[in-house]
Amino acid sequence: MIIRPAKNILGALRLPGDKSISHRYAMLGAIAEGTTRLGNFSTGADCASTLACVQQLGCVVRRNADGVIELDGRAPLQNPLASLDCGNSGSTMRMLSGILAGQDFASHLHGDESLSRRPMARIMEPLRRMGAKISAAAGDRPPLHVQGGKLKAIEYKTPMASAQVKSAVLLAGLFADGETTVEEPVRTRDHTEQALRVFGVEISRSRNRTSVRGGQKLHAIATAVPGDISSASFFFCAAALFPDSNLVIENLLLNPTRASLLDVLKILGARISVINLEEHHGELVGTVKVEHGNLTGATIEGAQSVALIDELPVLAAIGPFTRDGIEIRDAKELRVKESDRIALVAHNLRAMGAECEEREDGLRVPGRQKLHGAEIDSGSDHRIAMAFAVAALRAEGESMIHGADAAKISFPEFFNMLESVVER
Ligand code: S3P
Repeated sequence: MIIRPAKNILGALRLPGDKSISHRYAMLGAIAEGTTRLGNFSTGADCASTLACVQQLGCVVRRNADGVIELDGRAPLQNPLASLDCGNSGSTMRMLSGILAGQDFASHLHGDESLSRRPMARIMEPLRRMGAKISAAAGDRPPLHVQGGKLKAIEYKTPMASAQVKSAVLLAGLFADGETTVEEPVRTRDHTEQALRVFGVEISRSRNRTSVRGGQKLHAIATAVPGDISSASFFFCAAALFPDSNLVIENLLLNPTRASLLDVLKILGARISVINLEEHHGELVGTVKVEHGNLTGATIEGAQSVALIDELPVLAAIGPFTRDGIEIRDAKELRVKESDRIALVAHNLRAMGAECEEREDGLRVPGRQKLHGAEIDSGSDHRIAMAFAVAALRAEGESMIHGADAAKISFPEFFNMLESVVER
């Protein structure tokens, strides 16, 4: 994919449904009583992996004429005949393992090359404590073998801030005897908690502790998934780079555990307004307008790094165009995402002629730097491909993004939509 420099970002967009929420609604729909109907379901390959897996587990999945995904739930799930292909999706493998731990059969889960390198001990440990028998390949990497069965409730402190781990334990908790509690070091995205409530499950939360009682029935829902805010972040960062930009995104997920990018852009100096804020099924949804400002600089650390974990690559990629630079700390988890995102961001910034300091848990990208067009290596990572498409808009000369196709993992429409709002 070739990206040419832009003059400006102008327009209004609506985005496909949020990836995190689509995964959860599909998994809960699969084990709920009745037919769940999901409009604006994520178009990413990751959520298609989740749908394919639940289908293999006996849940009938249809796409109706309006594009609404319908899932006929079933509990218990059905023993899958073949290995479950989670593709590139860590969310699918980790969260589904929680559900599979509570089923009366054994499942095998595998993924692509990137997923096969990602750590699974983080879910294996708590699910084993609940009574599931789980094994994996060397280094606790996929493929996974999950022998489910009767589970017992546990109280579990997650050693790292991970919504996927929290979710895996809570989902297993639905099938456990007694009340399962998860305590997290820092609050992570809470879509599982919100979704469980919407599907009729009672859960209790106080600060960073969430509890669920096993044996509760889930009931199908009909809803539309709000637009994906992590996908929106590429457009917002692009708009923040050009003096005459004016970009509006409607129907966007604005859950406070996901919307920190807007706070950071405000601190940097972009002009942001939010209107039509409403709650849909426990999730905040609204319209966001972003206009340029003179970008100063920011340090992102601690809980903010957790909240922005998927947005850090694009924030780092626009760092050279700020006055004081962008510094990212406490983000070691970036090294075990779809790629080592710290190393790849540093590599690609340098390829574009920027200086940057790579650290074990983050990066420092100095401001007031010019970038030139370059050959970008996405590392087959969707967020790296999209982050550098944004940086390339303000570089001098053309950039070539190798492996741009990876964008389809979360956002197949990305390059077309970007072209639709770019002015040259
Ligand atoms: C996700 C949680 C995060 C995030 C991922 C989606 C989720 O991963 O990076 O893209 O939907 O729960 P971790 O749980 O590993 O932090």
